[in-house]
Amino acid sequence: MRFRMVLAVEQVKRMRGGAQAQLMRCSNGGYYVVKFQNNPQGRRILANELLATRLARRMGLPSPEPEVIEVREELISHTDELVIQLGRGRALCSAGKQFGSRYPGEPAKTVVYDFLPDEQLREVTNLGDFLGVLVFDKWTCNTNGRQAIFHRDREGDGERYRAQMIDHGFCFNACEWNFPDAPLRGLYARHGVYEQVRGADAFEPWIARVERITESDLDKDYSGIPPEWFEGDFDAIERLMAQLVRRKKLVRELVISAWKSSAQPFRNWR
Ligand SMILES: Nc1ncnc2c1ncn2[C@@H]1O[C@H](COP(=O)(O)OP(=O)(O)O)[C@@H](O)[C@H]1O
Ligand SMILES: [Mg+2]
Repeated sequence: MRFRMVLAVEQVKRMRGGAQAQLMRCSNGGYYVVKFQNNPQGRRILANELLATRLARRMGLPSPEPEVIEVREELISHTDELVIQLGRGRALCSAGKQFGSRYPGEPAKTVVYDFLPDEQLREVTNLGDFLGVLVFDKWTCNTNGRQAIFHRDREGDGERYRAQMIDHGFCFNACEWNFPDAPLRGLYARHGVYEQVRGADAFEPWIARVERITESDLDKDYSGIPPEWFEGDFDAIERLMAQLVRRKKLVRELVISAWKSSAQPFRNWR
């Protein structure tokens, strides 16, 4: 159990996307992309983000460090930008515990891209992680397309880009917490990232990592999720955990159904 609390200090800018996230500078010196409890996609999105990001990191996937960020009433009332745009009108962003995804470095120094042109995409230093994250997205039934951010790889040659996996709000089918599996779900839109796949074997090391995640690992990863992010419905979250355990053995078959699909995402797997 950790007792430190990360507090939002300053709003930096509004991000694109349906959850209307905000980039914020925080008390630990880090910058975080923050999603609020009253975001238009629903409260459980925050629980999904925290749990799924922890699971992805447990698999060894690169995903920005997740954090519970406390946003105070005073900051919201003093910042005109901290509002959620609704169909008609707007609402103040909610105060209290929100979800934060750590920005890599500082916004003034590190440029982050949502997309790369194919030529640079092919050169990304950790393309293999797109195979791992497909296994992850099949396991968690991410009903959104796979999303990643790219920034220059400081640990690498500094020229090429590194991908990090973001936006896990629609894992477990968003607020539904059911698993409507379908062949194309979870794929990255640019199938070039899968060119290295020559057969089912390419996914096996990642499937093994999912299989090694135990019930007690899952318990650890969901404890500490603020209960207000799932309306205190502990029965629902326990059922979700049980489903995740059960689904470990489905992952291989779900990857194969993606291969067989009309979209043919793996062009070198025959
Ligand atoms: N950890 C992060 N570091 C840098 N940028 C991020 C990070 N997380 C999200 N973003 C940026 O914020 C945008 C919105 O975040 P995302 O999780 O995709 O929310 P939404 O659910 O609204 O699509 C992304 O398109 C990306 O540009
Ligand atoms: Mg998104």
